[in-house]
Amino acid sequence: GAPVQADISKLEPGQRMTVEWRGRPIWIINRTPEMIERTESLSGEQLADPDSEEPQQPAYIDGGLRSIKPEIGVLIGICTHLGCSPLFRPEPDAEGVGVENWPGGFFCPCHGSRFDLAGRVFNNVPAPTNLEVPPYRFENDDIIVIG
Ligand code: FES
Repeated sequence: GAPVQADISKLEPGQRMTVEWRGRPIWIINRTPEMIERTESLSGEQLADPDSEEPQQPAYIDGGLRSIKPEIGVLIGICTHLGCSPLFRPEPDAEGVGVENWPGGFFCPCHGSRFDLAGRVFNNVPAPTNLEVPPYRFENDDIIVIG
């Protein structure tokens, strides 16, 4: 499949948009400073693979936020358990995610897997690995090229 361009010029802080690449949903999240802080404060006590040692991301992606720019997250929106599409639950203590002190992230309704706002999988859920990060680059501040 050909690369896909995403225009993020209208993506407000705290919001998520979706584009399709190779038949898969690609989520682009504009993380607020507060969302970044909540995500960076998570640790290996809560996350199964906090440093993304399993290769679910391009080699040039590094760090806990798993992105080129801290505020812009790019993820393949498919649960690594059995392929459902998790729900965006960015707000702290969102209803229905089944844990206390929810830091914001994604909740898979199929079997209850949870991921943080960087797509890192929480402990004790069915999904075995972090969400995948697709190959991407910034054409400029407003345009991301995926693929
Ligand atoms: Fe997401 Fe099973 S497909 S938890």
